[in-house]
Amino acid sequence: MPELTVSLGDRSYPIRIADGLLDTEAALPITGPCLIVSDDNVGPLYAERLKRAIGRPDCPLWQMPAGEPEKNLQRFAELLQAMAAQGLSRNATVLALGGGVIGDLAGFAAACYMRGIAFIQIPTTLLAMVDSSVGGKTAVDLPAGKNLVGAFHQPQAVWIDTSVLATLPEREFRAGLAEVVKYGAIVDVGFFAWLEQHADALLAKDPTALANAIAHCCRQKAGVVARDETEQGERALLNFGHTFGHALEVIGDYGTLVHGEAVAIGMQLAASYAAHLGLAPDADSKRLQQLLSRLGLPTALPSGVDADLLVAKMRLDKKAVSGNLRLILWHGIGQAFMTDDVDASGLRNFLNRPIGPA
Ligand SMILES: NC(=O)c1ccc[n+]([C@@H]2O[C@H](COP(=O)([O-])OP(=O)(O)OC[C@H]3O[C@@H](n4cnc5c(N)ncnc54)[C@H](O)[C@@H]3O)[C@@H](O)[C@H]2O)c1
Repeated sequence: MPELTVSLGDRSYPIRIADGLLDTEAALPITGPCLIVSDDNVGPLYAERLKRAIGRPDCPLWQMPAGEPEKNLQRFAELLQAMAAQGLSRNATVLALGGGVIGDLAGFAAACYMRGIAFIQIPTTLLAMVDSSVGGKTAVDLPAGKNLVGAFHQPQAVWIDTSVLATLPEREFRAGLAEVVKYGAIVDVGFFAWLEQHADALLAKDPTALANAIAHCCRQKAGVVARDETEQGERALLNFGHTFGHALEVIGDYGTLVHGEAVAIGMQLAASYAAHLGLAPDADSKRLQQLLSRLGLPTALPSGVDADLLVAKMRLDKKAVSGNLRLILWHGIGQAFMTDDVDASGLRNFLNRPIGPA
């Protein structure tokens, strides 16, 4: 299994990927004070294993209820209070053990506590392994929008133990596959074709196919982050489907669709909209729809979603500039691009009609 590096000068860090990485006693030693942050699904399953792996049976565990609605300012404040109550000092390390919710929230707390302390990402969902754990974006949500409060704060390391996927609920596993597809969709037609060939193996959690997909995505993400850490250009392409998706999550109060499902619908909307505008072949939009559907992901707007409301929420997305929409669209598979030239009323009309190839 590979070890990759996110190259950021003196803030560079390793991504270690292995099946059973957490199984060897003291294999991942931690010095100084530490705190494991997790949720009430993952903590009971893996916190003890992590304590053994870091050689620190004494490391305290802070747990919160699972789920996106918990990625909020209140939990953030509670975590900071817990860090202070534990007496964590500047040389402490926060260990974020969980999916993207825990990684984002614990990372943001580490970014703010004493103006920034170390943290390590130990992602336990497929989505977090291939995307959120790498790159240093940390945040919590506001009722007004996703990830509206946050910071760039790079972890010291990312430790990926693929064996933990065995306990991940099937719906969450499939949601993670949406972010895997995204890498092919935006810049890598070869990887997209590989995914088409290996969709069944991935769904069956074939260890080799999974390891290849995770390593490939991490390698891509590490490269993008090294070239464009603070999202001045290329990194924005990773938001393909996310402006639509975040708005759908907000409309559903973060409780209807899980993040990866919202991203799957968002990618399909972006692809269909690009085809509708004559910017991309309709055939590529259909290919995306077929792959997402094979992976058990939704591709159509949920019934009852109001197009006006959706576009209004999209304007609140962080990527919008002065209230103007900014979208990632594509010229076809592997050819994503960013545009500020979005006609909001045209988009509303498009969303109000039956959607593309769904
Ligand atoms: N920072 C970034 O760059 C970035 C990128 C993409 C997504 N995100 C964020 O990531 C979040 C979504 O992350 P997610 O999809 O991992 O969701 P999540 O963290 O809510 O985890 C999904 C569910 O799976 C459970 N779970 C996690 N690992 C498990 C395991 N191994 N076994 C059993 N249950 C397990 C969790 O308790 C939770 O109920 C969103 O908030 C999104 O904004 C951030």
